[in-house]
Order: sequence, then C-alpha cells, then structure tokens
Amino acid sequence: MRIAIVGSGYVGLVAGTCFADLGHEVVLVDNDQPKLAALGNGEVPIHEKFLPELLSRHRGRRLQFSDDLTEAVRQSSAIFVAVGTPPTESGEADLSYVESVAREIAGGIDGYKVIVEKSTVPVYTSDWIRRIILRNGTDPESFDVASNPEFLREGTAVADFLFPDRIVIGSDSTRAAEVLREIYRPLTDGTYYQRTHAIPRPDRAVIPAPIIVTSTKSAELIKHASNAFLAMKISFINAVASVCESVGADVSQVVNGIGADTRIGRRFLNPGIGYGGSCFPKDIMAFRSVAREYGYDFNLLAEVMRINEDQRQRFLRKVHTALWTVRGKRLGVLGLAFKGGTDDIRESPALAIVQALLQEGSKITAYDPAAMERTRDMLNDAITYSNSSYDAAHGADAC
Ligand SMILES: NC(=O)c1ccc[n+]([C@@H]2O[C@H](COP(=O)([O-])OP(=O)(O)OC[C@H]3O[C@@H](n4cnc5c(N)ncnc54)[C@H](O)[C@@H]3O)[C@@H](O)[C@H]2O)c1
Repeated sequence: MRIAIVGSGYVGLVAGTCFADLGHEVVLVDNDQPKLAALGNGEVPIHEKFLPELLSRHRGRRLQFSDDLTEAVRQSSAIFVAVGTPPTESGEADLSYVESVAREIAGGIDGYKVIVEKSTVPVYTSDWIRRIILRNGTDPESFDVASNPEFLREGTAVADFLFPDRIVIGSDSTRAAEVLREIYRPLTDGTYYQRTHAIPRPDRAVIPAPIIVTSTKSAELIKHASNAFLAMKISFINAVASVCESVGADVSQVVNGIGADTRIGRRFLNPGIGYGGSCFPKDIMAFRSVAREYGYDFNLLAEVMRINEDQRQRFLRKVHTALWTVRGKRLGVLGLAFKGGTDDIRESPALAIVQALLQEGSKITAYDPAAMERTRDMLNDAITYSNSSYDAAHGADAC
C-alpha cells in the first residue's frame, strides 16, 4: 500500500520505517528542512535501537522523504498524521499543527483517502479534522478520518511498533477500517514474523499482534486513558514509597509483594523521581482538560500530577538532608534523558533537578550514554559532561 506519514519525529519516523519494513511504499513528509536534509543524507536523527538498520535498508527505496504534502497525499491511500500536539498554557492539547496539516491534506484529495490520526489527540479531534477538510469543498465520500493511536515507548520504539501489545483501529467506516487492517496485516496474520530479516522477538511479545477495532472516539479515548493509567501507577507507587520511608519499610519489598498479584502486575511500579517525557505530562493535562470540557471533573488526575511534581521536591530535600548545603559542592549526575534507552530530554525530571541544583550554586558533572548532545544544546556549558559514569562520580560529594 502507498502510505504518507506527516511528521517525521519519534513516532512518524519509526512508524514510516516500520511500515516500509512491512512492505509498504512510504513517503515521510516534514516541514523541518534541516531534518529532511539529514534524513536524506543517511543520518539517523534519534537514538532508537534497530532504527539505523531499518532506515538504511529502506531509505531511497520503499522509504522516501519529502516536504510536499499535497503531492504525498495524491500518491497515497492512507495519510497518517504524526505531528506534535504540545500543551497550551492552560494544559489543553495544542492542535494547531494538526489543523494546518488537515487543511493541506484537503488540497491533495483526488480519490478515496483515509486520514489517520497517529498523534495523541483529544476525543472529537477526528470530527474537527473532517470538518476542516469538508470546508475545503472536498467530496464527503472521498475520505474518512480514522484513529490509530500509537503506544510505542521511546527506547524500544521499533520493537514496540513491530511487536505491539495491541493495534487499535478506531473507525466509523468499514471501508477505512479495512484499509487499516490491510496495512497491519503482516503483523496480525503473523507473516512478518516468519521473514528472515524481521527484528528479534522481544521476550513478552504476543504474536500475531492482536487487533482491536473500535469507534473513532473510543480509540481517541483509549490512548489518553492508557497514558493516564500508567502515570497513575507511577504516582501511586511513589506515594507508597513516601509512606515506606516514613515508617521504615522497604518499598522494593512492598513492590514485589504488590506486583506478584496478577491483577496488578509488576510493571510501572518503579518508585523514583517521577514520570516525564514528551507524552505523560501533556497527555494527563489534556485528558483532564477534555474531561472537564465535557462536564466531568477528573480530579484523580490532578492528584497524579501533584504527586509527580512533589517527587522532585522530595528528591531535592534528600540531597539537602545528605549534604546540608549544596553551594560549591560537586555533584555527579547519572542520566539526563527522561528515561533510559533514549536521547529525549523533553520534560526530563532529571534535568529539572539538575537546574534546581545549579540554581543553588552546586557544580554538576553529568553522564548519559545517549542524551549529552541534546543536553548540551539546552544547557551549554552550565554543567560538565563526562565520558563515563565513573568519571562523573569521581571526586563528587554526592552522585
Ligand atoms: N514520542 C513518543 O513516545 C510518542 C508515543 C506515542 C504517541 N506520541 C504522540 O505522537 C505525536 C508526535 O510525537 P513525536 O514525539 O513524534 O513528536 P516530534 O516533535 O518528535 O515530531 C513531530 C514532527 O512533526 C513535524 N511537523 C510539525 N508540523 C508539521 C507540518 N505542518 N507539516 C509537516 N511536518 C510537521 C515536526 O517537524 C516534527 O518532525 C504527538 O501527538 C505525541 O503525543 C508520541
């Protein structure tokens, strides 16, 4: 199938490359010229396992890069929208990139097309996309808008995409659902996994990949509700960890005891400095906001966010308890990305803590195996970058 993906960031680039690996003809569209030039020159702009191999396998063959969205729409049967949906000041999702892409897509519709929301968007976004395209005078029979939320995790994005826990297709039209089923067929009938070049199967992978077909609105909600639930698990265990510290219990033992219950599960019960990244913080805010807009005050989510924010303050209090004052002290920091296995520093709690410690006058030497270049772009020489975790820890007052 011929597929266009709009936005070649973490999601678009991984999705496009993986669709090419499934055998589709893919054009990745972006309006960021330096990024397109880098991709065209063989560079891999993000740190993701298996991405370099798959990109070099398909680049220039089944995978093309372009800045011409209208032409890409003309060439394709399905157009996946994978642009950013950052938060506005008031916490809602900023859908202006989605809106401008929808307007441009309208200009290229010259036969039946399925427009697929891949970006994480609030419920009802598909209705808006449809309205915007219709405003252009487009024939209502010539397109459908469907939702196909993405659940990949940065760090294991390629494996998550090709070995998903589930593929959710939200569509109110049978024709559009059939196009999406066809695109994912090699994963859902298992033929992809028999190919010799398929990437190795992760331990927990379910094959063939399960598919769940829902209404468009349900699919939009599934993504927000999934992220909210995972964030809630993290905040829950962080709150439990605080109680453990107060009473002298060991949270790792408590986690083992809770996680052994198959109704609860062990995953996402890792106490720490809280969740971050480009998804959870904004998606929890956006979910709360859309619930409020439709008359439900989802206060539980406010508490999830409050606990998360408090974890950073608790960590800083621990630093003070250990060191008393931090001015002039040398602190080693291991890890700058928002989690391991990625170079993504967006909303990284580690960086928020680094910045707070810098403001108090400490000197920081940091190490991260993937995220130092991006951190340097943001913090310049405010911290020292070392070549290994041992270097970062050497001679430090605390690590
Ligand atoms: N990053 C993740 O782990 C993840 C996982 C699941 C879902 N999502 C969702 O997917 C969406 C994209 O996230 P991301 O992390 O890939 O973002 P990103 O910022 O890495 O990439 C977005 C890309 O869209 C491009 N873009 C913006 N406007 C454009 C336009 N008008 N035309 C063409 N290209 C345009 C940007 O240049 C950029 O390359 C978001 O809604 C996010 O919530 C992200």
